[in-house]
Amino acid sequence: MALFFGSCCKEKESPFAPTPFTPAYHSRLMGYYREPPANPSTKEGILLGKTLFFDKSLSANNTISCASCHRPEHAFADVGPVSFGINGTPGKRNTPGLFNTGLQNRFFWDGRDTSLEQQSLHPIQDPGEMAMQPAALVQKLQNDPKYPPLFLKAFGSQNITIDNIAKAIAQFERSLVAVDTKYDRYLQGLENLSPLEEKGRVLFFTHPDPFAGALGLRGGNCGDCHLPQTLLGRQDGFFGFFNTGLGSEDPGLQTVTGLPSDRGKFKVPQLRNVALTPPYMHDGRFQTLEQVLDHYNSETIFFMPNVDPQIQLATNQKFGTSLMLTGEEKQAIIAFLHTLTDSAAVKFKP
Ligand code: HEC
Ligand code: HEC
Repeated sequence: MALFFGSCCKEKESPFAPTPFTPAYHSRLMGYYREPPANPSTKEGILLGKTLFFDKSLSANNTISCASCHRPEHAFADVGPVSFGINGTPGKRNTPGLFNTGLQNRFFWDGRDTSLEQQSLHPIQDPGEMAMQPAALVQKLQNDPKYPPLFLKAFGSQNITIDNIAKAIAQFERSLVAVDTKYDRYLQGLENLSPLEEKGRVLFFTHPDPFAGALGLRGGNCGDCHLPQTLLGRQDGFFGFFNTGLGSEDPGLQTVTGLPSDRGKFKVPQLRNVALTPPYMHDGRFQTLEQVLDHYNSETIFFMPNVDPQIQLATNQKFGTSLMLTGEEKQAIIAFLHTLTDSAAVKFKP
């Protein structure tokens, strides 16, 4: 359509040459970065994606944008247990933050999407979120004078397609990097952790063994699931999904695989900036990191149906039936979780 309005000639004048963009992961994380060959990030693509992400006209009644739920000042998470779509419809799950999605290839708490390109079209179409049909969205943006030139710069054509909308949003999301943290400087050998943070780090990554030596090996067992570099779960298949004994009504991964053994399994969320994104868990049930630690330390989770064996096998006391961390150990782990904050990243301005 755009061709009829003379866009052909402009395209000829300026050959399509967008500026390649590589996100600023340090060398220890760059190996985990994933970008589909069909959608290489460019500065022009990211600018378009950012414009779309903050634009309320992506919703049927122009009331909400992606950023209404994924709030930049809260590390792109939301502040309540659930968010609200157009007409105030409450959602079912907690809105996750969006930093470091470029290191992931399983999206949503139940892992139902495998790429950001695929993912972004879901909230746009979801009747409880933005309720916008793809064809109507394309038409709406095509008629908005600001968009055809942005699409031309990003994708070489003023002709807007739903694929290019999805690609641009995905590029913007991949540009959201939060690795300017004390822990990342520690990983690179640039900064030491305080004694309490270091104690928390060791506990976080240690699987406890009360039978080791005279004193036993103390640990919080967190690193069994939240991996050391990415602080994510595994990204192959559904190995990064676990039941942490929350006893939720939400079937989680079972909705995707249909397997009863996957009931109550959820994606391991990424933990950078976690101190900034309460409430926690797929249903936003915990307000503080203290409550999260109390959950992992509680007596009841060992006996929850379907709880992960890695939780049941982790105790700091011989024949113990809970993790049995001391109050000071929990505080150390919380201090470690605070070393994962990138304060510069949340000063993001659209
Ligand atoms: C009404 C609130 C709301 C809006 C609007 C919204 N989201 Fe979300 N978003 C959520 C919730 C809630 C989840 C988790 C849902 C689930 O797991 O079932 C989520 C999940 C995601 C995820 C997966 C993150 C992860 O760690 O797996 C991405 C990426 C995302 N949204 C991007 C977007 C984009 C892009 C837009 C705009 C096109 C958008 N969202 C609009 C609430 C919202
Ligand atoms: C068996 C795997 C497993 C172990 C062990 C584990 N986690 Fe988790 N963690 C998860 C999963 C899965 C979720 C999401 C659970 C949900 O919402 O249902 C999660 C969620 C969290 C969250 C909430 C993040 C958010 O954005 O909502 C924090 C914080 C957290 N874990 C910290 C820890 C700490 C600290 C430990 C060790 C004491 C630990 N985890 C041990 C798998 C695990």
